[in-house]
Amino acid sequence: MALTLRTLRSDELRSFQRMVDQSFLDDVKEDELERWRGMFEPERHHAVFDGDEMVGGGGIQTRHMTVPGNGPQPVAAVTSVGVKPGHRRRGVLTRLMTAQLHGLHEERREAFAALWASEAGIYPRYGYGLGSEFARLDVPRGAAFRAGVEVDGERVREVSAAEAMPWLKEVYERLRPTRVGWLSRTDAHWDHHLADQEDDRDGLSSYHYVLHPRGFAVYRVKSNWVERGPRSELHVRTLVAETDEAYAALYRYLLDLDHIGELKSFTDPDDPVVHLLADARLALRSRTDALWVRLVDVERALSLRRYQSDVDVVLEVRDAFCPWNGGRWRFTASGGEASVRRVDDDPDVALDVEALGAAFLGGTRLTTLARGQRVRELTPGALNGLSHAFLGDREPHCPEVF
Ligand SMILES: CC(C)(COP(=O)(O)OP(=O)(O)OC[C@H]1O[C@@H](n2cnc3c(N)ncnc32)[C@H](O)[C@@H]1OP(=O)(O)O)[C@@H](O)C(=O)NCCC(=O)NCCS
Repeated sequence: MALTLRTLRSDELRSFQRMVDQSFLDDVKEDELERWRGMFEPERHHAVFDGDEMVGGGGIQTRHMTVPGNGPQPVAAVTSVGVKPGHRRRGVLTRLMTAQLHGLHEERREAFAALWASEAGIYPRYGYGLGSEFARLDVPRGAAFRAGVEVDGERVREVSAAEAMPWLKEVYERLRPTRVGWLSRTDAHWDHHLADQEDDRDGLSSYHYVLHPRGFAVYRVKSNWVERGPRSELHVRTLVAETDEAYAALYRYLLDLDHIGELKSFTDPDDPVVHLLADARLALRSRTDALWVRLVDVERALSLRRYQSDVDVVLEVRDAFCPWNGGRWRFTASGGEASVRRVDDDPDVALDVEALGAAFLGGTRLTTLARGQRVRELTPGALNGLSHAFLGDREPHCPEVF
């Protein structure tokens, strides 16, 4: 039977979530439905049907993401993509991606899209590039800071979730305009981000909330008692501070908690804790892909952010999935602002649209992408300047999976 695609009605959240749960080989979780309801934008969710059966689909959350130098900008935050087993490799995902990306272009909505991928091989074919990473960081309890590190001496308190939430939101909102990769959050997004259902804890404790006058941390504990005594794991969900000294204070507090053997954190790739430690090698780090970023309209998207240095180059962009982006663009950055216009001039740099998506948040270097054979320098010397212009002050980091 031919596949059909349409947007959802507001009464279809249950069947949509059921399809997504089945796609992820999960049990259907009725109790999560209310949480999703608060974030559900039916007119921005597509479902693909085989006859009457909903076999796949995906959604967009209307949000803002902070971009380099220019604060929060509209982003299509792609979420809940799935195709039921038994209906795969028949083009359902391709139908969905076409509806989303071509739809955004035709309606001149968000100029860029971002998502977390379950598998890294899925989205590059649709023009998504690897735009940010996150780090796994393990530090043993008690790891000392080097002499001279300033730790904000204000009192740190553990409080209930209800007491903590207003402060978390206040601090987050104050920092959000300057933290590249951070997303706007409604109350429903907050509830989802810090949902604490027992069957999602994977044997860990409920969340502990730590407040500091200039920051906060949220963590869980995985209990582990061995013959020598307690060696539990402390899993940091989030740690945010408005000053470097408060940041050091929150880390110090967590590293000194009794009963802990090891602190484990999912954090930004340039988390500075390694530089606080007297013995940097105590921090074990590994990096994994986080945000995949897609420029829907190259011209509009590149103008959304600011650039580190002046540059003037002609880009030859290849984009098979969104052909309106293909061709030659003169990219000029001056005083931070960019102008992007179509030209017929000879190109200086050739690249696929994925590479522009990867570099968009300022973390992935175009020179690295060139070494990975995703970018080609045609005019000697053109690439270094372009790559430098795109770099951010710090690595982009999205602290939530959406
Ligand atoms: C990943 C998933 C959405 C793909 O859906 P699908 O309808 O089978 O995809 P399509 O048939 O449209 O495939 C399009 C192309 O992507 C490729 N592809 C599909 N899934 C892939 C994967 N997991 N890894 C690499 N390539 C993949 C297909 O081979 C096909 O390539 P081709 O155009 O060269 O033939 C589906 O397998 C799924 O739901 N998986 C489990 C849930 C999940 O991971 N969702 C994604 C959340 S981020």
